[in-house]
Amino acid sequence: MIHNLALAGCGNVGTALLEILNEKRAELSEKHGFNFRVTLITDLMKGTILDPEGLDLEKILKDLKESNSLDSFPKAQGTFGELLERSRATMMAEATPTNLKTGEPGLTHIRTALSRGIHVTTTNKGPVSVAFDELNTLAKSCGARFRYEGVVMSGTPLLNMLKYGLAGCSVQKIEGILNGTTNFILTKMNDNGYSYADALEEATSLGYAEADPSGDVEGWDAAGKISILAKLIFGKNIPVSEIDRQGITCVTSEKIKEANENGFAVKLIAGLNMLNGMPYAYVAPKEIPLSHPLASIKGATNAVSITTDNLGEVTLIGPGAGRRETGQALLVDLIAMCKD
Ligand code: HSE
Repeated sequence: MIHNLALAGCGNVGTALLEILNEKRAELSEKHGFNFRVTLITDLMKGTILDPEGLDLEKILKDLKESNSLDSFPKAQGTFGELLERSRATMMAEATPTNLKTGEPGLTHIRTALSRGIHVTTTNKGPVSVAFDELNTLAKSCGARFRYEGVVMSGTPLLNMLKYGLAGCSVQKIEGILNGTTNFILTKMNDNGYSYADALEEATSLGYAEADPSGDVEGWDAAGKISILAKLIFGKNIPVSEIDRQGITCVTSEKIKEANENGFAVKLIAGLNMLNGMPYAYVAPKEIPLSHPLASIKGATNAVSITTDNLGEVTLIGPGAGRRETGQALLVDLIAMCKD
């Protein structure tokens, strides 16, 4: 079977997915039976291109590399639903910018695709956090699959680990570094004497930060992620607005230096535990003893320690942001969806 893939959002992550798909086409077919053609690409800045017989991926990637545009392709017009239908998409990868308040534009893209029975993978925390129950119910009722490995820790397979690897364990507590941008900034300020502004600029240029980086530095991104984990682990909706949240904008170079001299590293920690029988989630900068594993996590790397009944503490460390790393999250979901 050949899957027709639609891509919504052709920025850093969407482009990285196209690159990986193009590089690994033969391997994906041989190892995973995943055969595909890309039939629709739509992007707010670059426009929409469509071909139900399959777009020319080599040319698309060349154009994106040379001009960061799709200007040499004729543009398609229509509502998102019409475009999906004309492209005969069977799967969609959604990688538009995150809006944790409304979930848009990803929420509309995902609803539109799922309601047509099109399988969806997304790296967009907004729709997953805002409409978790609705989208999962919609997927079930329409016979579509809905996956979102990349919404927490990018391609590092935390959600797959929770769902499959830790099946049968009860999770009691989670504590970790879930935002790559802020960990990158704190590392640069701590280890390389960067100013906050210079470190943020570098994190943005490396593709770690959100389109609006205030979402990272004020802790919204980590709050969105811990809210999704609360739903997955404890089955409870904790809206992002109800999470005790503090970002790193108040963390100065002096504070970091002083903590270091006293044997601590300042890290933005996102946590989830049970408090008086209710799930409690928070995001806050904390001083972590230098001997603790979380203190040694550098750059955009994420880490999460999960306390369970059967295994005690399990720690997962890996990339938490980045274009190819997040493209991998979409890929792992596409492979799973073609096998489910
Ligand atoms: N801006 C996010 C981060 C991207 O820095 O972690 C991955 O969700």
